Amino acid sequence: MSEVLRVDPAAPDAASVARAAEILRAGGLVAIPTETVYGLAAHALDARAVERIFAAKGRPSTNPLIVHVPDVASARALSSHWPAAADRLAERFWPGPLTLVVPRAAVVPDVVTAGGDTVAIRVPAHPVALAILRAARIPLAAPSANPSNAVSPTTAQHVVAGLGKKVDLVVDGGPCSGGIESTVLHLDTDPPTLLRPGLVSPDAIEAVIGPIARERKQQGPLPSPGLMARHYAPRAKLEVVHEDRARDLAAVLAAAGERVALLVLDDAVTPAVVRGVQTVVMPRQADAYASRLYATLHQLDSQGFTRVVVVRPPDGDAWLGVRDRLARASHA
Ligand code: TXA
Ligand code: MG
Repeated sequence: MSEVLRVDPAAPDAASVARAAEILRAGGLVAIPTETVYGLAAHALDARAVERIFAAKGRPSTNPLIVHVPDVASARALSSHWPAAADRLAERFWPGPLTLVVPRAAVVPDVVTAGGDTVAIRVPAHPVALAILRAARIPLAAPSANPSNAVSPTTAQHVVAGLGKKVDLVVDGGPCSGGIESTVLHLDTDPPTLLRPGLVSPDAIEAVIGPIARERKQQGPLPSPGLMARHYAPRAKLEVVHEDRARDLAAVLAAAGERVALLVLDDAVTPAVVRGVQTVVMPRQADAYASRLYATLHQLDSQGFTRVVVVRPPDGDAWLGVRDRLARASHA
């Protein structure tokens, strides 16, 4: 088992932060809390350290990583061209769950960008992540700290369960508040392109920089491998259905011998007992739902549920990130 170091999420102690920073500077792997999900961090300018991330996750080398920095100046240093839109977005959303894809500087190793000409960068809003970034004084490449294609971790326990002893240190800062991964926006296209919806909505981005493209073009190689259809999936088979069908489907599955969980919105399906079905009441507010989604899926997996029936969340921009993650989790 990896060593787990418990820290106060609001005010991490200097000794713990220094320990994590030292391991990272030496080329080690440290799982750190961010405001979205836990990240598996390594020295972004050390290609061998970054290669260890890919090995630990079983991640294809074609899938580039997000680089985490403590401030805009550090972000600029990793890019060959820093667009005006990046400044405006950083001003509004950093530190926070928005990742910007910009042309990369030569200092960024190929392994980070999967050989591409761009680099994805964000300033995380979590006090622990920021403290470690400041103490280490290096940019940190960090994907979500889970085996490739599994549900992202929102607690240190999820990290340990998924990655076991492949990590040099797990910094436990308690549960992540955001609960799903950052929004990824490509700024080197005209207009900018939303590559992955997340906690910052397209509307909020457009209010700052004007129109963005919300759909990826189908032709050509995937601009962002995180857009692969199945990703973030639990072990249980998950289906998203209209609330009118949800209880019946759950009951039929349970009758067929499946262990079924039914995720309802709090004022949708009355959580009346369906025989053999565990009802889980999810929040009707998008941010609160996102905050609990992965933790709920991890828990259902650990309890041995074989099927998860999810009442489809509302339409609209605020739910885009949640709908996206549910769609990926349910892809056959
Ligand atoms: O909230 C988050 O973003 C978390 C925390 C740890 O910061 N990180 C995270 O990383 O979700 P990961 O590796 O699981 O997802 C990174 C996403 C992938 O969809 C990847 O394809 C995309 O960002 N990405 C990274 N670099 C890119 C680039 N240069 N161009 C296009 N997409 C890129
Ligand atoms: Mg991930």
